[in-house]
Amino acid sequence: MKTLENLSSSEQLVVKGYGFIGFTPPGNLVTRVMNGWRKYLQVPRAERLQWRVGDPRDWDDGYVAREGGEYDQKDFFHYRPHLYALLDHAGVDYGEHLEWLCDLDRLWEYCRMSFQKIVFQLNTILPDYDLYRRFQSPVARSRHVIRLLSYNNDLQPGKLLGKAHVDRNFGTFQIFETHPALSLEIGSERISYRPKPGQVLVFTGGKAELLTEGKLKGVKHVITVPDDFIAKKGEARQSIVFFAHVYI
Ligand SMILES: [Fe+2]
Repeated sequence: MKTLENLSSSEQLVVKGYGFIGFTPPGNLVTRVMNGWRKYLQVPRAERLQWRVGDPRDWDDGYVAREGGEYDQKDFFHYRPHLYALLDHAGVDYGEHLEWLCDLDRLWEYCRMSFQKIVFQLNTILPDYDLYRRFQSPVARSRHVIRLLSYNNDLQPGKLLGKAHVDRNFGTFQIFETHPALSLEIGSERISYRPKPGQVLVFTGGKAELLTEGKLKGVKHVITVPDDFIAKKGEARQSIVFFAHVYI
């Protein structure tokens, strides 16, 4: 009999709502994408705001600065492959950042393929929901997105950086974070995520729960600075996440 530890990542998703998968993108892509993100954040703010492209109701293209409430002091950057077309259309000169955008494109494709394998397995475990075809649909494909974040709050131990929520997509990869702060709420349990080399965390979101009539769960999670964290003044928490979609 299989123990929880030796379940495949898709079996873990069905049983627990989260799991770990091997994740080793070639050529230091994660580091390169992070370095590009830090360089981008040095660009004058007015120039960065020109990268807010696409439909204003849709945040998933380009740069978004959030300066709203207490939990919303953060910068986002969203990458989907059509970003180039939107930047061209908006007349944004991205020559200085072209290497970074190419790295983002490679990382996006690596994430998409990694998630495809998970959905392929899920489709055999839960064959009634057409998950694989829905993931592969051109509509879903254009929605898969890499999100880069930079939290500008002071990192005080125990501080809440993001409210508890369920992601609205099908599934999420937690790819990288400069400071551990993500906790999953699984039933009455709170699981504090600590990154493991060569692996990423994957968990299911609202669309997974909706589509599978609750057989997969939308996993609630929260961003809280660990109580034992020693903060350096002014240091931002930065992270990389990938959101995978299905066509419903
Ligand atoms: Fe989230």
